[in-house]
Amino acid sequence: MPSVIASAPSNIALIKYMGKTEAAGNTPTNVSLSYTLDHLRTTVRITPQSSFRGTVGGKDIWAPLEKSDQVSFSLSEQGQQRFLRHFEMLKQKWGVTQGFLIESANNFPSDCGLASSASSFAALTLAAAQAFQKINPQPWGENLRTLSSLSRQGSGSSCRSLYSPWALWQNEFAEPLVFPYEKLLHQAIIVESSKKEVSSSEAHKLVSQSSLFPGRVARAEKRFEQLKHSLQSQDWRQSFEIVWAEFWDMHALFATSRPPFMYMTAGSVKVLEETLRFWAKNGDGPLITMDAGANVHLLWRPDQKEMAAAQEKYWQDQFRVFSSL
Ligand code: PMV
Repeated sequence: MPSVIASAPSNIALIKYMGKTEAAGNTPTNVSLSYTLDHLRTTVRITPQSSFRGTVGGKDIWAPLEKSDQVSFSLSEQGQQRFLRHFEMLKQKWGVTQGFLIESANNFPSDCGLASSASSFAALTLAAAQAFQKINPQPWGENLRTLSSLSRQGSGSSCRSLYSPWALWQNEFAEPLVFPYEKLLHQAIIVESSKKEVSSSEAHKLVSQSSLFPGRVARAEKRFEQLKHSLQSQDWRQSFEIVWAEFWDMHALFATSRPPFMYMTAGSVKVLEETLRFWAKNGDGPLITMDAGANVHLLWRPDQKEMAAAQEKYWQDQFRVFSSL
């Protein structure tokens, strides 16, 4: 079998997955809704051991993928182990035993503070499915819900990266959703690029200790219903207000957990404050959200392109910006 190659995008949640019903298998406490970031991608290439030299026995190894459009890429020892464990789980699912070389890379730098676990686990699951369907085809092997559910077990948020532009995740797998906003413009304002002190896996555990956690599921579910309605009816301001409240809810859980922790920095607050002022001045603006990190994500409608470009120029003087514009 020759190599197979697959790529998958990252996604940004507007209703956040934060908290698991149990640690194993990444089952979420609440519904989440994401917009897919098609411009931020991971590519994975899988080559069976017989096609290359360098592996021993049936062992799988990971290496950075060298491709012209990919930036130089490295994975920590721990990151590699997690990636290979997911691959091993997929091999067992398909009943595949031989060893593989797994190469991966992102089209964005790994030192920029943009999480890549969603795109990398989704790409690994898609590449493995493609390879294993050739070796030991399964009737469910191309079913997107099944693949989403498998990807979820490696990294929760990755299960939403199998769909574009919108994905809804409630329990086992994510599903596509349709809204009138099909092509939003995305900017990530990178105010902090160093590694996070608290990983998202730890955050999922810690938030259950927050005194604000009771009621969190109901709040997320209610906001999801409200956001679904405001996006469907193209009420942009209302959508902005819901998305704004939702990320603050998640960051309040972080700040009130035991022990408390924070991702927000002075840089994040600056971007948040100024973007709020932009909304107040113009009566319009982007959806604003933050993940479990310090960076700020902005989503604009296509008809706001000029405004978005002007803001991008402004932020570029102070921070690194990753943009789909
Ligand atoms: O998929 P994980 O375990 O890295 O969790 C990601 C959680 C958030 O990014 C903070 C929110 C989300 O829904 O993506």
